[in-house]
Amino acid sequence: MRQAVKVTEDIWFLGSSDRRLSKFENCHPVPNGISYNSYLILDEKTVLLDTVDRSIVSVFLENLEFLLDGRPLDYLVINHMEPDHTATLRDVLIRHPETIVVGTAKAHTLLHQFFDINLQGKTMQVKENDTLSSGKHTLRFIMAPMVHWPEVMVSYDEREKLLFSADAFGSFGALNGNLFVDQIRYGDAEVAELRRYYSNIVGKYGMQVQALLNKAAGLEIEMICPLHGPIWRSPKKIQWLIETYSKWATYRPEDHEVVIFYASIYGGTENAAEILANALGERKVKNIRMYDVSVTDVSYLVGEAFRASHLVFASSSYNNDLFPEMERLFLDLKAHNLQNRTVALIENGSWAPAAGRKMNELLASMKNWKLLTDALTIRSCAKEEQREALLSLADLLAASIEEADMH
Ligand SMILES: Cc1cc2nc3c(=O)[nH]c(=O)nc-3n(C[C@H](O)[C@H](O)[C@H](O)COP(=O)(O)O)c2cc1C
Ligand SMILES: [Fe+2]
Ligand SMILES: [Fe+2]
Repeated sequence: MRQAVKVTEDIWFLGSSDRRLSKFENCHPVPNGISYNSYLILDEKTVLLDTVDRSIVSVFLENLEFLLDGRPLDYLVINHMEPDHTATLRDVLIRHPETIVVGTAKAHTLLHQFFDINLQGKTMQVKENDTLSSGKHTLRFIMAPMVHWPEVMVSYDEREKLLFSADAFGSFGALNGNLFVDQIRYGDAEVAELRRYYSNIVGKYGMQVQALLNKAAGLEIEMICPLHGPIWRSPKKIQWLIETYSKWATYRPEDHEVVIFYASIYGGTENAAEILANALGERKVKNIRMYDVSVTDVSYLVGEAFRASHLVFASSSYNNDLFPEMERLFLDLKAHNLQNRTVALIENGSWAPAAGRKMNELLASMKNWKLLTDALTIRSCAKEEQREALLSLADLLAASIEEADMH
């Protein structure tokens, strides 16, 4: 049965959520589910903006046919060709052979890579600032290449001052009846899912996100409709969202705080991490967070690294190398282009510690990472000497946080 709801006078939401999916992109856990958003403008002409993932195809098609109520679907705008938004595109076009498919040149290329389908005479290729009128509404297309994929554009509804933002401003998490951020108690947990989505999905493309933010700055925006997660509409929330995105896109931390990531087999490294954390607490460092990298999925760790200014990595050595989960974390942070962080390293090894050397090598290949001091070495378990060294490291970290707070 249909479940579509109104967004504005004549714009409808016809997406839905998947709460069964284990990993989004078969990669990132989504314990709170994920929504796939699609929007329909019912004007003199009808315009569908993006389709949805395969998992919600039935209700999506039911929503579409109910809302069209026998009218033709005049246009389908593809802001993003990734299958989480286009797996059901053919299902729509089979039912609506009349539809003109609107997208960038690259989107049309990708469409034909994903689908063996003949759209001759039924495509419209658009570029920067091209417009499409449906009657009362005019959509202006703004290119956003690599704000996830190369073919991405966003569509600005001039009448509603509404931005259909593709993956930008999207979030992990199902929608639970409240479509709008201002209807949700939007706290730390929700921000964390917004950040985890940003950092893992678009974090790598900070430059391109900045380019999109610069273009958006020239638009009056009263509503942002992303392809995942809730819709943004109150001016204060939109301002916060854009400011936060601008921090992430420039790889500036949100909080002058410490996150300790540790990898430990038998507890020696973990013990060192705890000693350090307690010493930081004693030095009035607030909101310290600790993660066992073997326990917490790396997508959460990436989100935390995008949030905090000071990162401590403590790792056992493993087969003359770094512990595998710790290496994965470093490779992910590097892949997502994270920059401008202050770092401290702790290595552990029982016969030939290798973790420190490996972490130093990885750090050297990352941009603007400041190592506070040489890696601290533990041999199996911390002794009094290492305890002293951990306290000194806590002094350095606490001073560095205080300095960051003053600027
Ligand atoms: C499979 C395996 C491989 C290891 N490889 C190394 C190594 O290459 N060099 C080294 O010094 N210690 C190595 N170790 C020892 C661990 O690094 C050591 O037990 C650990 O650092 C102690 O800290 P933990 O209690 O936090 O695990 C290895 C341990 C295991 C289980
Ligand atoms: Fe995407
Ligand atoms: Fe997406």
